[in-house]
Amino acid sequence: MDGTPLIAIDNLTFSYRESGGQGTTREVLHGITLDVQRGEHVAVLGHNGSGKSTLAKLLNLILEPDSGTIRIDGIEITDPDLSDADILTLRKKIGMVFQNPDNQMVATIAEEEVAFGPENLGLPSSEIRERVDAAMDAVGMTAFAKKETARLSGGQKQRIAIAGILAMEPECIVLDEPTSMLDPQGRKDVMKVIETLNRERGVTIVHITHDMNEAARAGRVIILNDGRIEMDGTPEEVFSDPDRLETLRLSVPQCTALMHALKKEGLNFEGPVARPEDCIEALCRALGGGR
Ligand SMILES: Nc1ncnc2c1ncn2[C@@H]1O[C@H](COP(=O)(O)OP(=O)(O)OP(=O)(O)O)[C@@H](O)[C@H]1O
Ligand SMILES: [Mg+2]
Repeated sequence: MDGTPLIAIDNLTFSYRESGGQGTTREVLHGITLDVQRGEHVAVLGHNGSGKSTLAKLLNLILEPDSGTIRIDGIEITDPDLSDADILTLRKKIGMVFQNPDNQMVATIAEEEVAFGPENLGLPSSEIRERVDAAMDAVGMTAFAKKETARLSGGQKQRIAIAGILAMEPECIVLDEPTSMLDPQGRKDVMKVIETLNRERGVTIVHITHDMNEAARAGRVIILNDGRIEMDGTPEEVFSDPDRLETLRLSVPQCTALMHALKKEGLNFEGPVARPEDCIEALCRALGGGR
């Protein structure tokens, strides 16, 4: 299947039924066309109500589109006659992590939580053990294996939720604002896990976020605006025009804003930057110090 995008979305539209209305519907995604290649780390940005979570739910078979198609690794998930075997294959290929870890926890003990998915796959217990240990290790939660999930911090719970998805050995993880309920350290820990999974294990990441600094860590940033794709490019490309982002009710990462402000003051930089490490590099060069 080389060359086939892992996710291929073609002209996807989706409407919600209006509550109380007599069969009235409101279209919230208007013809989304988008490919995600294996191994990509994509951030999805967009103001409240722009359609990000709706798109995530369509990817995870929670919602069905009005028209258009989604293919995951060549399997058309939007096919109404999708077989149970295909659904199982898809559930293994693509995992979802939501905003509130409390809503996705099913077990009382951390390692039981992580084992839940592989147990449902009917795997032999020795393999479940191996997968759970590997997943706990990957998110840095081995020491918490026997702890009650209720006693974990938000960031620790979110890492357990990610481990539960990892134990299914998915090719892709879609995360819908996984850090928005966490404190700064919890956010950092979860971001580190996301980046390591992508870089070291080649897991494809689709990360929905409102945090521009987190989005800047992705290889590609997609901006949704009122149910349409408005921008799609590297963080440097997408964040190069702060005024345009403002019209989309978004902002730029802090270091991009700093560089723009310094440019206005006459300091000369080469290109836009989106990540702190690139900002330091550019500043050192501009100030003539080198590194
Ligand atoms: N269950 C629902 N029934 C009806 N309309 C809905 C439902 N869920 C979402 N919507 C509407 O669909 C649109 C897209 O919502 P969605 O939740 O996908 O946006 P979002 O980009 O995830 O927003 P946020 O940043 O606030 O999470 C919004 O106008 C929202 O009001
Ligand atoms: Mg949302």
